[in-house]
Amino acid sequence: MKFFVDTADVAAISELNDLGMVDGVTTNPSLILKSGRDILEVTREICGLVSGPVSAEVVATEADAMIAEGRKLAEIAENIAVKVPLTWAGLKACKALSDEGRMVNVTLCFSANQALLAAKAGATFISPFIGRLDDINVDGLDLIADIRQIYDNYGFETQILAASIRTVNHISDCAKIGADVVTAPPAVFKAMANHPLTDAGLAQFMKDWAKTGQSIL
Ligand code: E4P
Repeated sequence: MKFFVDTADVAAISELNDLGMVDGVTTNPSLILKSGRDILEVTREICGLVSGPVSAEVVATEADAMIAEGRKLAEIAENIAVKVPLTWAGLKACKALSDEGRMVNVTLCFSANQALLAAKAGATFISPFIGRLDDINVDGLDLIADIRQIYDNYGFETQILAASIRTVNHISDCAKIGADVVTAPPAVFKAMANHPLTDAGLAQFMKDWAKTGQSIL
């Protein structure tokens, strides 16, 4: 499973990238706001750091304007994936941009039918939002499993990019279901390393080591 980092925070991306954890990056208008940076400038900087797909989202709501914005964003670097919302206009933009050979990430997906439409429109990635479904008491993981089954039934090549990840369990559950990619905030990836038994075991080892009076270096 590929790991994309869901942030426009260059320092956080860089830290994970140095560990070889970053296969790509996703951003959205809210994350650009949070970064306090200019979209073109920060996206260019991220594309310089990461060789995998970097999703940059259009903000127009009409298809022609989305296509124009998508082309401009795609000029930033070869690894840009243009992110469009799962609306009818977004599907039109997805078709046009993917026909031009650009990577397209269709975002704000909340149903299997929406995912089916995105695949038909040539999406490179479909982004089902797990956490936001969980927020309204709908099991977001069920949606990932449904899309996996539908795409496999017909051999669609659109990659399932599980998004709106809130917990480390979301990540392992998505891996079990077979999502192609997971995009999560840096803190969630870092939390994957935590386990209370690791902490307790290490504390005991340190205590016993101190009693030996030895040093390795
Ligand atoms: C995905 O591409 C989105 O940027 C993101 O995962 C949304 O997550 P949120 O629901 O935590 O805002």
